[in-house]
Amino acid sequence: MNRRPIGMFDSGVGGLTVARSVIDLLPGESLVYLGDDARGPYGPRQPDEVLGFSREIIEYLLGFGVKMVVIACNSATAAALERAHLEYEIPIVGVLEPGVRAAVRRSPRLQIGVIGTRLTIGSGVYERAIRRKDGRASVFGQACPEFVEFVERGEVEGDHIYEVALGYLEPMKQWGMDTLIMGCTHYPLLAGLLSDILGPDVALISSADETACEVEDILDRLGWLADGSTAGRHRFLTTGDIAKSTELGRMFLGPEVEGAIHVDLKTHPDLGI
Ligand code: DGL
Repeated sequence: MNRRPIGMFDSGVGGLTVARSVIDLLPGESLVYLGDDARGPYGPRQPDEVLGFSREIIEYLLGFGVKMVVIACNSATAAALERAHLEYEIPIVGVLEPGVRAAVRRSPRLQIGVIGTRLTIGSGVYERAIRRKDGRASVFGQACPEFVEFVERGEVEGDHIYEVALGYLEPMKQWGMDTLIMGCTHYPLLAGLLSDILGPDVALISSADETACEVEDILDRLGWLADGSTAGRHRFLTTGDIAKSTELGRMFLGPEVEGAIHVDLKTHPDLGI
């Protein structure tokens, strides 16, 4: 057993969908979540820049004694996960492989669609990972840059977003997609809208839930799972504005976000966990 917290980060509040899944699956684990709101969103940035931010944040989280780091952001996973595996000794989990594994397992005809930010789709990492898992798979990647802004405005339904989503998804439907990976932290909040457009024959894969299962597997294998009899304690850190990340944080995660703590990535406040 290992009661040290799990470190988790994202460009902002989106990764809290992953935090939600981890808290639900592993209620005994404590989380130190960092949202890099001051520099997010990462989706429109260059991969090298996001790699640099990710290294800085992983090192910062290590300063809190975390036992594992979850890169709860598809764009940062695309830009940094491979390098992070080479550079750090503790387990580092991204949101890509778990979603890919589930998609390949569940896709009846291996016609797999992936939606994400420009960085994620432009990097081609999903396509490569899917083909590595099964060389017979066909992949349709579609960047959906407007989705993040809609979700952060709390606009997850209505005519405007429906029209925009139809524009992104219709070509994927025509192509014969049978499974869709929601390759961005914000998209689980759009699951209702996406299934309305795609219908029951397209399976939606949430990277958040799949990542939580991967976290459980790794901790279990290492004998590091926290005892579930006491609830974990969570701290939500932001490099940005406290009020905004607390408000959005509640929308993405729920009441556990009592109040975000501002950090400068240089000093480590006492988090009391
Ligand atoms: N968290 C990001 C992702 O999953 C979405 C927001 C951003 O562009 O940073 O790709």
